[in-house]
Amino acid sequence: MAFCNKNVPSSSSSSSSSSSNHFPMLGLLSLLLLHPTTTSSPFASAIRVVTIQKPTSDDIPSFREAPAFRNGDSCSSRNIDKIQIVMPVDANYIRGTMAAVLSILQHSTCPENASFHFLSIHLEPEIISLINSTFPYLNYKIYHFHPNRVRGMISKSIRQALDQPLNYARIYLSDILPTDVHRVIYLDSDIIVVDDIAKLWRVDLEDKILAAPEYCHANFTTYFTDTFWSDVNLAKTFEGRRPCYFNTGVMVMDLDGWRKGGYTQKIEEWMVIQKHKRIYQLGSLPPVLLVFAGNIKAVDHRWNQHGLGGDNFEGKCRGLHPGPISLLHWSGKGKPWLRLDARKPCTIDHLWAPYDLYRSSRVALEE
Ligand SMILES: *[C@@H]1O[C@H](CO)[C@@H](O)[C@H](O)[C@H]1NC(C)=O
Ligand SMILES: *[C@@H]1O[C@H](CO)[C@@H](O)[C@H](O)[C@H]1NC(C)=O
Ligand SMILES: *[C@@H]1O[C@H](CO)[C@@H](O)[C@H](O)[C@H]1NC(C)=O
Repeated sequence: MAFCNKNVPSSSSSSSSSSSNHFPMLGLLSLLLLHPTTTSSPFASAIRVVTIQKPTSDDIPSFREAPAFRNGDSCSSRNIDKIQIVMPVDANYIRGTMAAVLSILQHSTCPENASFHFLSIHLEPEIISLINSTFPYLNYKIYHFHPNRVRGMISKSIRQALDQPLNYARIYLSDILPTDVHRVIYLDSDIIVVDDIAKLWRVDLEDKILAAPEYCHANFTTYFTDTFWSDVNLAKTFEGRRPCYFNTGVMVMDLDGWRKGGYTQKIEEWMVIQKHKRIYQLGSLPPVLLVFAGNIKAVDHRWNQHGLGGDNFEGKCRGLHPGPISLLHWSGKGKPWLRLDARKPCTIDHLWAPYDLYRSSRVALEE
């Protein structure tokens, strides 16, 4: 999620590529790996060339109205839960958020029982009226996430879009949402759900705070720097658990348990350590891994086919992983709406296109 300079097209990825023209990102990365503590090197500060500006209404596109999705007969039962879904919303990613909401409603047995909680930094009235007009029947609330919450705690990562304050809002849900919201599904804006979200909602968390697909074959070592692994005290962090990578773009969260355990503060402590010693290269993901990896409830991989946006540098096309799919996630640099607009879509982007409600889209859902 990112707000970027109006001089560059409305994409966070293009702002990071504009800086990489001056300092090739791979070169910078190896520089940081060689000197992990020199975060204030002249190179590191020099790549902060893009200023963050509040987008104007010119940047906010227009969308077609989604149909009214109605509950199936089975939804009148007393056992039906209200499904609480949290998503970030901002001017740059609004097209993704709208497509994601449409995909969730369209595949739900009880769409009227889905409740959305949107997180926004600027609370633009244009965005709110856009949600109103696109989804007139949507049950939603929008909350302000103040970037001061994370000011001074964000460390520069390998991709500028990852450094936007709104990316960190997921760590503060226990404070932002009212205390009568006990459990939520957190979803990034660059996802499409192609199954009934109620199946994910009903996961048995057992005694865990988070549920997400786990990837135990991924090399976990690579998510942290040598500084981290070579420090005896830091490396002890994972003692007694088998840490596996998971993606924080799709999580079921027990907010009551999170509040009780004070997990926001535990994650913030890692963000402060990161400020002093460079212990990881990515944005909001590694501090969450430090606290939770190896201690989450694993759900089926079908709930997060991630990485469809390619890697963090080029956003190359990728194929699907084998197996059934309930949720597609364009994490990585490439976003399907940008690649479709540039007429350079990847094959998988055609799976996103039917959910695009953007008005001028030529590949949008037939009305
Ligand atoms: C689900 O939606 C139906 C129809 O709007 C409503 O009658 C019912 O109370 C809702 N259930 C919950 C738990 O929100
Ligand atoms: C959006 O809809 C809500 C609920 O109907 C209403 O209270 C709010 O004023 C609307 N906001 C805008 C900006 O249209
Ligand atoms: C995992 O990555 C680390 C650091 O890059 C490397 O030293 C190690 O050999 C890798 N382990 C495996 C099993 O590939």
